[in-house]
Amino acid sequence: MPNIRFRLNGVETDIDADPETSVLAILRGTLGLTGPHFGCGAGECGACNVLVDDHAVTACDTPLWSVANKDVTTIEGLGNAQKPHPLQRAFIAEQALQCGYCVSGILMSAAALLKRNPDPSKAEIRAALDRNLCRCGSHNRMVRAILRAAAEMRNP
Ligand code: FES
Ligand code: FES
Repeated sequence: MPNIRFRLNGVETDIDADPETSVLAILRGTLGLTGPHFGCGAGECGACNVLVDDHAVTACDTPLWSVANKDVTTIEGLGNAQKPHPLQRAFIAEQALQCGYCVSGILMSAAALLKRNPDPSKAEIRAALDRNLCRCGSHNRMVRAILRAAAEMRNP
């Protein structure tokens, strides 16, 4: 098997695997990172979103070979209970989740948005979340939370 190297949450990582294996299978299976969720498995729901460099991608249909030498960031790399990302704090403050299944993917889409646009409008946030499904219907609270996090990040 070829050896594929990438940076995972800032740590150099080597994986010996079929290069066509999905990034999600490597993250959840081989590496035990269960933050990115399996939803549809077909690139349709965004529950598995991770950042590849600064772009949110669906890990379930992204082949391992395509992340060689790139930065991959999962929700575990965004923040944690001890040091939460402003988006994570804002989602809690706005109670922007119900079951939470979609949220790690939504946070990664929001993080990618705020990297390229630190002051997004509501319409721009909705457009950025367009490919993330939330069965619980928490979208309006999520938009409020992302506005709140963006404001905090502009004026820390
Ligand atoms: S599980 Fe990847 S897009 Fe749905
Ligand atoms: S909070 Fe339940 S699917 Fe989004």
